[in-house]
Amino acid sequence: MAILLNNMGFENQPWADVFADELPDMPVHVWPEVPDPAQIKYAVVWKHPHGDLRRYPNLQAILLLGAGTDHIDAEPDLPKVPVVRLLDPDVGNDMAQYALYWAMHFHRRYEDYRQQAQRAEWQAHEVTRSKEFRVTVLGLGIIGQEVAQRIAGGGFCAQGWNRSPRQIEGVKTWHGAGELSEALQHSDVVVNCLPLNDSTRHLLNRQRLSALPKGAFLINISRGAVIDDDGLIELLNDGHVSGAALDCFAQEPLPQESPYWRMPNVYVTPHMSGSTYVKSASRPVVENIRRLEKGDVPQPIHLPPQHAAST
Ligand code: GLV
Repeated sequence: MAILLNNMGFENQPWADVFADELPDMPVHVWPEVPDPAQIKYAVVWKHPHGDLRRYPNLQAILLLGAGTDHIDAEPDLPKVPVVRLLDPDVGNDMAQYALYWAMHFHRRYEDYRQQAQRAEWQAHEVTRSKEFRVTVLGLGIIGQEVAQRIAGGGFCAQGWNRSPRQIEGVKTWHGAGELSEALQHSDVVVNCLPLNDSTRHLLNRQRLSALPKGAFLINISRGAVIDDDGLIELLNDGHVSGAALDCFAQEPLPQESPYWRMPNVYVTPHMSGSTYVKSASRPVVENIRRLEKGDVPQPIHLPPQHAAST
């Protein structure tokens, strides 16, 4: 039995090398070169073409090469086998650092100082005390919790909102649709860590983002389509939202014609807040294949809506 490997848009060879070392009894076939589809037992994939997974009659699990599940959740023909997310501890760490970096940048007005320096202008600005500067993480899954804890560790007033209740030490939390606007009203910075699904698509539209206090900031590190771009662009243009650090977009790469590229108060980064390092990310994947081989449950299992609907 074999592994199907397709890290769409990224390199396959480093993964194939790790599997050859760690799971020597299991040949690896890099998609689309699959001599015998019946041999495929595990699909280790990222953004795999929809419809293809049905071709493997003996498939026993799908192991994603990323944390987000929106692509697999939209697979119209998903085989009924366990779907396992990739939780690489290094990715959570990088994403938390990215959020902390921009929270510090916005709080201390570093862009203003950069511009002042170009004019040789010596002028310090008063800012809110760090402990009172409210940074709210939307989406307190495994990554969101790490981000919120890092924000707290960075000396800010860390807060969070999640669909269901969450308790995190040192982090004030709200939950449920009814409390979202209250959370936004009490935020100086919002960090979006929400997954993209039917209930979060365009959740952060003009009306909801207007609940932010004037001058607040936005950091987006999960999925672009959680934000309604037209609404955010209006608020950035009229100054209600002072600035945004955006790492992910509804369409990637961000098209040349997107206004975001040219807005002075927007910092565009190319979906790099949490890149996957094969060195650390391969460990949980190999571990999960070993677990599956022993008949144990891999971690963390994701329940796609296609499976939820049919149970
Ligand atoms: C990247 O966006 C991921 O979901 O892992």
